[in-house]
Amino acid sequence: MDFHVSLAGRGDLSVRIYRQLRDAVLDGRLRAGERLPPTRELARRLAVSRNTVAVAYDRLTADGFLTGRVGAGTYVCAELPAPKPRKAASVPGPQPKAVWRSLPPPVAAAERAPVYDFRVGIPDAALFPLETWRRLLARELRDAAGFAHYADPGGHPGLRAAIARHAGVSRSVRADADDVLVTQGAQQALDLLCRVLLEPGDRVAVEEPGYRLAKLLFASHGAEVVGVPVDGEGLDVASLPPRTKLVYVTPSHQFPLGTPMSLARRTALLEWAGRADAVVVEDDYDSEFRFSDRPLEPLQSLDRAGRVAYVGSFSKTLLPTLRLGFLVAPPSLRDALRHARQLSDWHGDLPAQAALARFVDEGLFARHLRRATKVYAERHERITATLESVFAGRLRLVPSAAGLHLCALADEGTDLEPIAARAAAGGAAVQTLSDLCGGFPRPGLVLGYGSIPLDRIDDGLATLDRAWTSPSP
Ligand SMILES: Cc1ncc(COP(=O)(O)O)c(C=O)c1O
Repeated sequence: MDFHVSLAGRGDLSVRIYRQLRDAVLDGRLRAGERLPPTRELARRLAVSRNTVAVAYDRLTADGFLTGRVGAGTYVCAELPAPKPRKAASVPGPQPKAVWRSLPPPVAAAERAPVYDFRVGIPDAALFPLETWRRLLARELRDAAGFAHYADPGGHPGLRAAIARHAGVSRSVRADADDVLVTQGAQQALDLLCRVLLEPGDRVAVEEPGYRLAKLLFASHGAEVVGVPVDGEGLDVASLPPRTKLVYVTPSHQFPLGTPMSLARRTALLEWAGRADAVVVEDDYDSEFRFSDRPLEPLQSLDRAGRVAYVGSFSKTLLPTLRLGFLVAPPSLRDALRHARQLSDWHGDLPAQAALARFVDEGLFARHLRRATKVYAERHERITATLESVFAGRLRLVPSAAGLHLCALADEGTDLEPIAARAAAGGAAVQTLSDLCGGFPRPGLVLGYGSIPLDRIDDGLATLDRAWTSPSP
């Protein structure tokens, strides 16, 4: 690698070269075993005499930073002190806008998966059809000419058509290819909606408890975010505050409680949106996995007034790291959304979109969903049965028949945080409602079954049981 040496400043040139190379070795920019350019070459690049560089190299070698033999090259020594972290700049540097300073720092991803992984929203990577995906992607990448130009900001045309058909058949979403905007996951769909709809200070209503990343996103756009309670039928429409511009809901599988929104509430919400001149954002993030009863009509297909923006994601059905999702927005927003997408990141990863189009078109996605649904249904059933027996009297299950997690509520006053912490120490990662939703006061646990195999569920829940019944000394 060409290491950049600067000759700016004053003093002996050899000393300046020496110091920069020494600092780079100490802070890890130059790693053990890395080869340095020959003195002649570095001298030419820096327009200094070869002797100037040779003096610096000799000193670094004498100090144990470099090693080398004439003719065999100069390398960073294999045995070095552990790199020192680079000093933080003493000046504060440029500051982000106030709204970004007011948000909590991002949650870091766990370094290692826990033994009993009940974390929410992570699908089973073992179910991902890796071989097929590799084949489809390799096929797309055979010919770079097809991807040489910037593409339509709406996304790959074949994928838009495939999504329109799939969502139409499986969820009765009313859309054709032109209505679909392919996005980098649901999160980008929400971001684009904010960009084209919200002025700073606009009021956005969200479910309480609800999806934290959506709330933070709305806040980052300068919105006034108001939580609206959720009961057994979904969002309490009667509690929506006046002058709400946008309401964000998860009607198929409320996040995190898991209940579907009743038909009466869906109708009431659409009527309210008409009266309030508001936009309803319907986040249908994981309802492809359905274990019983027929799904209710999405708001998008009940809507006759063009008020609903429907958001879908492949993060749960495939993998979150693919960053693939989509948006079906009212026609009145279509041009602005495409424009916003172009100005944001143009169109995302086209080869992956093309591969997904084939995956859907060849019926492989539907097959994958059938297979994965069976696996998740067994896990859902096993957790349900254990919660209803072993945890009876301590946890009440919230009825839920879809998705990748379920929620169980505890009695008021139960402090679940230490229980979850003890369970984590025993290898079982469970999340509390409060932890997941940024301080929601009702005690409850949300158990994901996307990444825990069936044969670990009993031991994982036994670990939770012990954490509950035998507090540590
Ligand atoms: C409520 C909700 N919406 C959407 C998503 C998916 O987001 P994305 O498609 O950006 O990965 C999640 C993932 O956890 C979620 O919980």
